[in-house]
Amino acid sequence: MPIFWRPQFRIGHDDIDNDHRYLILLINTVELVLRFPDDPRNVEAALTELRRYAQYHFEREERIQIAYGYIHIDQHKNEHRELLGEIDALAQRLSATLEDPDGGVEGVKAQSAEITAFLRKWLVDHVMKTDMKLVPLFRKTALR
Ligand SMILES: [Fe+2]
Repeated sequence: MPIFWRPQFRIGHDDIDNDHRYLILLINTVELVLRFPDDPRNVEAALTELRRYAQYHFEREERIQIAYGYIHIDQHKNEHRELLGEIDALAQRLSATLEDPDGGVEGVKAQSAEITAFLRKWLVDHVMKTDMKLVPLFRKTALR
């Protein structure tokens, strides 16, 4: 099942909210290519794009936090770093599966439901638990 952006995900800053929408699209793309992984290059391309855009988004979000004087930025940055590490670990695991003679494309298919569940939780948990703490920042000030 793909994931759809919901109003509950709204942080109240357009750049951040639009990035989250795009990350959801990328997770749906990963899900799609994992379900039909006949060409492993598609799996790698989708994950690489998710990793690239996540990093770009995290850096943008951190610059916004600095601009708004957010005091918990260090903790938030650490979480972003951990999230990127999790994607790296996932990408390594997938390429190991593809190279494994007992794994291959069938091995990737077997893991696809688990991986997409992980990615959905990966994004939604961060948005709902950590990014949500930014909401008051965008309410209090007119800087935008
Ligand atoms: Fe964040």
